[in-house]
Amino acid sequence: MRIAFVSAEVYPFSKVGGLGDVAGALPLELAAQGVDVMVLTPRYGSINRWGFGIEDSPYRYTVNIGNKAIDCGLSRWQSPQYSNFQVYFIENEHYFGSRGIYGNENGIPYEDNDERYLLLSKAALEVCKVLNRIPDVIHCNDNHSALIPVYLKSKLSEYSLFQNTKTLLTLHNIAYQGIVNMDRRLIYDLPDDLFYPIAPMEWYGQINPLKAGILFADALSTVSPTHAREIMEDEGFSAGLKGVIAAAGKPVQGILNGVDYSEWSPQRDIYIAKQYSNKTVSEKQFNKIALLNDIGIDQAMVDKPLIGMVTRLVEQKGIPVLIEALERLLALDVAMIILGSGEPDYERSLMKFAERFTGRLKIDFGYNNSLSHKIMAGGDMFLMPSRYEPCGITQMAALKYGTVPIVHKTGGLADTVFQWNSQSGNGFVFENYSADDLIKSVRNAVSVYYDKDEWRHIMLNGMAADFSWQQSAQQYVELYTYTCQV
Ligand code: ADP
Ligand code: GLC
Repeated sequence: MRIAFVSAEVYPFSKVGGLGDVAGALPLELAAQGVDVMVLTPRYGSINRWGFGIEDSPYRYTVNIGNKAIDCGLSRWQSPQYSNFQVYFIENEHYFGSRGIYGNENGIPYEDNDERYLLLSKAALEVCKVLNRIPDVIHCNDNHSALIPVYLKSKLSEYSLFQNTKTLLTLHNIAYQGIVNMDRRLIYDLPDDLFYPIAPMEWYGQINPLKAGILFADALSTVSPTHAREIMEDEGFSAGLKGVIAAAGKPVQGILNGVDYSEWSPQRDIYIAKQYSNKTVSEKQFNKIALLNDIGIDQAMVDKPLIGMVTRLVEQKGIPVLIEALERLLALDVAMIILGSGEPDYERSLMKFAERFTGRLKIDFGYNNSLSHKIMAGGDMFLMPSRYEPCGITQMAALKYGTVPIVHKTGGLADTVFQWNSQSGNGFVFENYSADDLIKSVRNAVSVYYDKDEWRHIMLNGMAADFSWQQSAQQYVELYTYTCQV
């Protein structure tokens, strides 16, 4: 089976969040299971061609965006491990080479992102053509590549080579739909009737690529079973697209993401002060001491619970509730380290707390892979108060490090973290999305923390969990196979 996997970010070449993690790990596991996989992604300026061993290729091709003919190049990374796995980079200096992933250094999205994602989608199809590698399934991810199914089904003669190709659209985050003004219509070069009121591309007078992708894709999935139910049943969770999903007439399959244990496991983590396993779990303490030292938290806090967070600072992640709860949380005699980047307003509010509670609360507003590993290893608890969470990778990583998650019961968090009840469970779960419930849950965790036997039991339960990609990749293979048959 031949799969083309299209993603705006692919770890380790580019990453903003979990989409990068998934696009880095799932194709690799598919290749391990014998699938022929090519990943298609932009080559952003930050991707070091030589460092990664990316090879140039002689291929050139043209992609039309409105009345512009855009000349593109191609480079390639061949997996040393699997001959059936390559990453192809779409090269264009203006749209990708001179820029970052979604926005500039201040986090402001690029104004021409509609053209950039359109270029990614159309270029992915051109690359399949120039390489003469027509896939059985094109696996599209989020709004950035959601238009691929729309082109295949509405431009039949242009894409006749793909007449037997099926499409799967995975919804990692349905709230980001790529909506733009109707006056951008001409860049798409799609039939007019797709833009009429209530037609697939139209959305309350604007253009919505994700809506069209949902309607045209042959199959739909999201990244956890609970979130699949949430978006099929609840208008809010679906960010307004519940009716569109129903109209598409395809159930959204929920396939839980995995976590890449070659990257996230305390036995082989290269970023942490001391490696440890479930047999040497007491050595986790070295990492706590090193972390407190590094970030300047008072060493007197060493025997108190240290709560970590690694997150994008956006509403989805429960930052408003965190801000509301923060003062009362710190009154529970805990220390906290938050690593996050995102919206400036949240950064400003959090900064004020950090200034008031120096020595107890440390906030790092960067994107810092090494520190994220140190927080996993050095923290006692890992907080994720997300309002919604399609899957979430960090809670699964935290479990492996014996860093006990405290989560709001939603999406993938509900599928991976289970409330401790003195015998079983691997974390602390609160049902209502509110500051009061968040605090209750943390208070509960703090009281259990001081019972060392019980705490060790929870940690070991978490460390025993296996969310490796193997099982998820098998489910994708089944879904690809099924999609090809219908
Ligand atoms: P989302 O994709 O919604 O942001 P996930 O939990 O699926 O959430 O994935 C987030 C990924 O991004 C994880 O690998 C996490 O470690 C990483 N990450 C998020 N924020 C930062 C940051 N400030 N610094 C380093 N890594 C981060
Ligand atoms: C999105 C979601 C996150 C998920 C990730 C990878 O960014 O917010 O929950 O883990 O995609 O699928």
